[in-house]
Amino acid sequence: MEHSFWHSKWHNNEIGFHEPTGNALLVKYSDVLLGPNGDEASQKRIFVPLCGKTRDIAWLLSKGCQVAGAELSEVAITQLFDDLDITPTVKSSSKGKVYSAPNLTIFVGDIFSLRRDDIGKVTGVYDRAALVALPDDLRRKYANHLVDITHNAPQLVITFDYDQSELPGPPFCVNDEMVADLYASNYSILQLERSNVEGGLKRKVKADSLVFKLSL
Ligand SMILES: C[S@@+](CC[C@H](N)C(=O)[O-])C[C@H]1O[C@@H](n2cnc3c(N)ncnc32)[C@H](O)[C@@H]1O
Repeated sequence: MEHSFWHSKWHNNEIGFHEPTGNALLVKYSDVLLGPNGDEASQKRIFVPLCGKTRDIAWLLSKGCQVAGAELSEVAITQLFDDLDITPTVKSSSKGKVYSAPNLTIFVGDIFSLRRDDIGKVTGVYDRAALVALPDDLRRKYANHLVDITHNAPQLVITFDYDQSELPGPPFCVNDEMVADLYASNYSILQLERSNVEGGLKRKVKADSLVFKLSL
């Protein structure tokens, strides 16, 4: 996807992917990122790639962990901080802007320009609607880059499985075989769930949500 595709989506408020009340699967499987019962949350720093203005960031912060995110659109990040009711500190760098507040840092720009030193230590990655937002030819580059910049941090990954011929992405179909193909050389992969997308994907196509735990 060209950057202009996403900038135009945010500009025109065509953000059907945004979940106003957050994602129930993060809550259900949060132990992957925060330890059992969230017991270790205060020691965690979770990276949210391609974060948009997801409410899941508010939920993670409410659990007491630190959050770092990466997002192309400054429109999204302005709205994210408005929704959080937090006034960020904004700094410019050669790679884009950095919006920050206590326990929260968001890198505004192309995720592929970020390096390990930019984002610092992270203990886990929460990928919802990130891997599936990218077309086939970018997905391996993204997966390898994510592994690199997070130093193989464990991941909670949520994808969609559906017949790609029935709908052009995004979101693209990323099934269990594709996740294995992208990540099996770096992680042990456990599929935690396959559940029906109620009403179908974009209310058009029968689809399943898949949830994966990627650990070392
Ligand atoms: C499908 S949305 C998902 C947003 C969020 N994860 C959620 O669950 O609501 C994908 C997001 O990725 C952002 N994006 C796309 N390509 C990007 C890139 N190369 N670097 C950073 N962000 C990117 C888009 O602007 C968009 O907000």
